[in-house]
Amino acid sequence: MTDFLNSRCENRANSASYPRTRLRRNRRWPWLRDMVQETSLAPSHLIWPLFVIEGDNRREPVLSMPGVERMSIDLATAAAAKAAELGIGAVAIFPVTPSQLKSDSGQHAVDPNNLICQATRSIASAVGERIGIVCDVALDPYTTHGQDGIVRDGYVVNDETITVLCDQAVNQARAGATMIAPSDMMDGRIGAVRDALDANGYQHIPILSYAAKYASAYYGPFRDAVGSASNLGGADKKTYQMNPANSDEALREVELDIQEGADMIMVKPGMPYLDIVRRLHDRFPVPLAVYQVSGEYAMLKFAAQAGALDERKVVLESMIAFRRAGASAILTYFACDVATWLNDR
Ligand code: PBG
Repeated sequence: MTDFLNSRCENRANSASYPRTRLRRNRRWPWLRDMVQETSLAPSHLIWPLFVIEGDNRREPVLSMPGVERMSIDLATAAAAKAAELGIGAVAIFPVTPSQLKSDSGQHAVDPNNLICQATRSIASAVGERIGIVCDVALDPYTTHGQDGIVRDGYVVNDETITVLCDQAVNQARAGATMIAPSDMMDGRIGAVRDALDANGYQHIPILSYAAKYASAYYGPFRDAVGSASNLGGADKKTYQMNPANSDEALREVELDIQEGADMIMVKPGMPYLDIVRRLHDRFPVPLAVYQVSGEYAMLKFAAQAGALDERKVVLESMIAFRRAGASAILTYFACDVATWLNDR
């Protein structure tokens, strides 16, 4: 043991930089730590996903996501107003479609009076100038089988699905969506949706592409929240969402989406895929978003409830990790908590 320590001391003495260089100096006082901090976090970086249900003055807890509620449009509108007050950048609306309105083809997606359109109109007229409204483009809230597209012979067909997605996107833009976010992972849909928006006078509406979206088990609680889990049964989405084992392929997905006109790209899930965020950030000069998905929320929340983690500290740490990896925007169910914590610091 003494030998070991002696040799360590000699190494230290021989090192040219030690003790001249002591990285701990810049960590000595809070003002200095703050001064040299490389990344920052503000409420404007956050996007808050909202689950919307039919009815008036109704809220339902999502059991697999303690603290998250499905809300009727009036309450969701009030929640969006509160989010705007907190300085949150945008809300992302997810409809819980009543089962009698679901069909094989998901046609309800293009109904101008569906829940997402009604919610969008309501939020747009109440707070549209002060908060972004992100609408998700994919058919899973509307299909009886829970897949994101149209199914033929057990396969989600690409090009036919895209024609519906284009109509869905235009339908949402008409309702007042200020960002269109295709989450379906069909090939070529970004270019097609861009053309459809442009042809209908929505040249100014940006597209946030779920470009590197993995076939992840972390979406489980979300599928409970919107009620697509039972529709899916045991099925998965592996013929269109990415294999979690792949990284190079994310570069190809993103490159294509940029060529097709994406204004922002997303990586999803978040924490288990920070390597992807970093690689994309290094490679492409395009704003990145990262989605801290429902399963990540559940892990942090349940661990905090069990007393194993300090919720505020661990959530803020996860946020700064996303920013450090290269994300501009963060979709998180913790958005209101994070904004509140940031505002009262
Ligand atoms: C639907 C969609 C999903 C999520 C966002 N949009 C689920 C899925 O692809 O099955 C997941 C979000 C989350 O887990 O928080 N296209």
